[in-house]
Amino acid sequence: MARGTQVWFNGKILPAENAKISLFTHGLHYGYGAFEGIRAYKQKKGGGAVFRLKEHMERFLESAKILDLKIPYSLNDLVQATVETCKANGFEECYIRPILYVADGPLGVNPGTTPPVDVAILNWEWGSYLGDEGASLGAKLKISSFIRPHVNSSMTKGKITGQYVNSVLAKREAIAAGFDEALLLDPEGYLTEGSGENLFMIRNGVIKTTPLTSILSGITRQTVLDYFKHLGYEVKDTRFTRDEIWCADEVFLTGTAAEITPIREIDYRPIGRGDHVGKPGPITAKLKKDYSAMVRGELPEYGRDWLTPIV
Ligand SMILES: Cc1ncc(COP(=O)(O)O)c(C=O)c1O
Repeated sequence: MARGTQVWFNGKILPAENAKISLFTHGLHYGYGAFEGIRAYKQKKGGGAVFRLKEHMERFLESAKILDLKIPYSLNDLVQATVETCKANGFEECYIRPILYVADGPLGVNPGTTPPVDVAILNWEWGSYLGDEGASLGAKLKISSFIRPHVNSSMTKGKITGQYVNSVLAKREAIAAGFDEALLLDPEGYLTEGSGENLFMIRNGVIKTTPLTSILSGITRQTVLDYFKHLGYEVKDTRFTRDEIWCADEVFLTGTAAEITPIREIDYRPIGRGDHVGKPGPITAKLKKDYSAMVRGELPEYGRDWLTPIV
């Protein structure tokens, strides 16, 4: 997948090979930083647009607040910088990665009261996150032996770099065991989310998603909640267990990278009922199709201001 040759680094667009960082970077040693994952899509009417850019940059700024890091850029500066990065690389459809971290400065755990912070935006072309087969036929999940940390150990409302070691361990374990993705439980044994996606299940017409305790408050999750509300479905934001999800009619993951990924199997148990055993269910299939249309500006009834044109 092609990487952007140009990056935005501390306020300027420059060639990626010139954006160098020091080995004395605090964020490299302790994972004290935050990032975002955003996608831009080619639009039906032509050109490209970034999906829910403002919401992603609001979460980016909230992550900085959670870490008590100050950056000299406003929401509007970050929105503009993202558009400029896409333009500089000629990308209309790509994945976008803003990142901030404590830069070269004090090397103890304490970065000081006003630590230096680098802010960068890079992008690359990226297809289906869980593979084309997972995206169309459904992915296979494994309940991880790793759990999400307690709410006072990990600040999950932020997309904090160091917190992703937990996700990487879970993901690698799942892949090594022949699955596509991991599902993590919370310290009390209830389901939370995937290593980089939120989780929904449907049983007997009731749609459930896990509550905002040990999970990232996903922007795709919110998009899906808005979509179901628009269609008149009720969604319960509630805890559920592994034996409940094994018996679901439909399961899907949501995320900027994974978009809407149907789940066909969890812990070797095929998901679904009747004609849909081990296949994407009808509600998931329609949502997937509609989400794909929505991000390309084909369903204007969903959030007209969700698409920021790359111009
Ligand atoms: C742990 C985790 N949960 C959920 C999500 C989905 O969030 P979003 O829909 O905002 O991409 C992500 C992706 O950013 C993630 O890393």
